[in-house]
Amino acid sequence: MMGKVVIMDHPLLQHKIGIMRMKETSTKDFRDLVNEVAMLIYYEASRDLPLADKEIETPICKTTVKEIAGKKLCVVPILRAGIGLCDGILRMNPNAKVGHIGLFRDEKTLEPHEYFCKLPHDAAERDIFVVDPMLATGGSAIAAIDMLKKRGIYRNRFLCLIAAPEGLEALRKAHPDVDIYIGAMDEHLNENGYIVPGLGDAGDRIFGTK
Ligand code: PRP
Ligand code: URA
Repeated sequence: MMGKVVIMDHPLLQHKIGIMRMKETSTKDFRDLVNEVAMLIYYEASRDLPLADKEIETPICKTTVKEIAGKKLCVVPILRAGIGLCDGILRMNPNAKVGHIGLFRDEKTLEPHEYFCKLPHDAAERDIFVVDPMLATGGSAIAAIDMLKKRGIYRNRFLCLIAAPEGLEALRKAHPDVDIYIGAMDEHLNENGYIVPGLGDAGDRIFGTK
């Protein structure tokens, strides 16, 4: 089945992403905002998680409430910048497992290079949320989902803060089955493969490495 593409338009999100784009925003504020924005996007990305009935007792009477069925979730950040989104998402689903995929983009060719992969042993049974702040050429997201599928893991969603049209198109073409959640859709990529207007290098801004 064809996956969906959701581009968030909530005012809170737009406001927070606007602050993240400002070059004078501090590392601390940027990091806090990445988590807040991730949480807000995850709110939408988790909308169709299945629910199950649970019998409980309130102080007044017995009743039936809902709980997320199975609780078989897994967040997979693409290192390094994807780490920045994890706390926000885990605050919503503290029992989710976390896998890690290490990819870096060659500055010249823009090709992704794999350097790490560690996933929960039962990842194939879980709903996977691959997370990365930026979807630029799409190379990293495509490679990450290739790595998952190669390991028999197919229940994948992708969540990012900012996307370029080029990256979205490439990801849709490579993995049409994956639902994609985007905080903001930008204009284009520049000659260095950076998103315009974007927010610069997400990893450097989260970790203060520049
Ligand atoms: C950035 C970003 C994505 C990737 C997006 O990571 O976090 O992973 O670039 O670009 P793409 O869509 O063209 O592949 P980077 O490779 O700079 O590594 P870092 O997270 O370690 O900074
Ligand atoms: N990676 C980033 O961190 N920022 C961009 O604009 C593109 C790729």
